[in-house]
Amino acid sequence: MKIIMLGAPGAGKGTQAEMISEKYNLPHISTGDIFRANIKNGTELGKEAKQYMDKGLLVPDELTVKILLDRVSKDDCKNGYVLDGFPRTIPQAEVLDKELEKLGESIDFAIDVDVPDENIVRRMGGRRACVTCGATYHVEHVPPKKEGICDVCGGELILRDDDKPETVQNRLNVYHTQTQPLIDFYTAKGVLKEVDGTVDMKEVFESIVSILG
Ligand code: AP5
Ligand code: MG
Repeated sequence: MKIIMLGAPGAGKGTQAEMISEKYNLPHISTGDIFRANIKNGTELGKEAKQYMDKGLLVPDELTVKILLDRVSKDDCKNGYVLDGFPRTIPQAEVLDKELEKLGESIDFAIDVDVPDENIVRRMGGRRACVTCGATYHVEHVPPKKEGICDVCGGELILRDDDKPETVQNRLNVYHTQTQPLIDFYTAKGVLKEVDGTVDMKEVFESIVSILG
């Protein structure tokens, strides 16, 4: 099963992708997490990506596509995966499609987690993310057992640099202009499913499970 998570920044793509990954035993692949891990490790890729991410802009397609295609060619992706934060532009979606076509494959579900902009800004300030495994917490909704420490892997929890209110607004603008057109793209392919992302995260997950089966 190959699944794409669509939705605005902070809609809950990462939260739901992680739950899907556990239930269906699929790797959760987040390009944002890959970039953040590279930033933490001080790699060249991390340095380049950070310049864009801190402004709320997208990392250029060439760089992002290469990383994603490398990742999905790994053995653990043979039975499918959940992509979280990729594709984010029409050119990215087209490259992914072409690569899958070569293998005689295609995307099974593109799940749009729908949350209005007003709700988003409120969510972001409380988010904490594990810099090692990417697990996501919220100081009120999903607090970790021990403050600042990831329940899953013991990694350090951070407030992301791009979660400042003015950067969140830029990310929302970028989402509406560059990423939202993917909703039509996947609707045309007959794989788009929309879920209400404003309800409790367990309820969001129930809607997703009823789609995936
Ligand atoms: P990325 O890491 O993908 O960030 P994003 O799309 O902006 O999305 P977020 O991770 O902020 O939100 P989410 O939808 O995963 O929500 P979450 O589950 O955490 O990308 C970061 C940057 O990297 C981009 O801006 C770009 O620069 C670059 N990048 C990445 N991929 C790229 C690509 N393909 N091309 C180009 N550049 C790329 O939830 C948010 C918070 O809300 C959490 O605290 C959570 O606990 C809480 N929450 C979740 N669900 C609920 C709920 N139902 N009710 C209440 N609270 C909830
Ligand atoms: Mg995320």
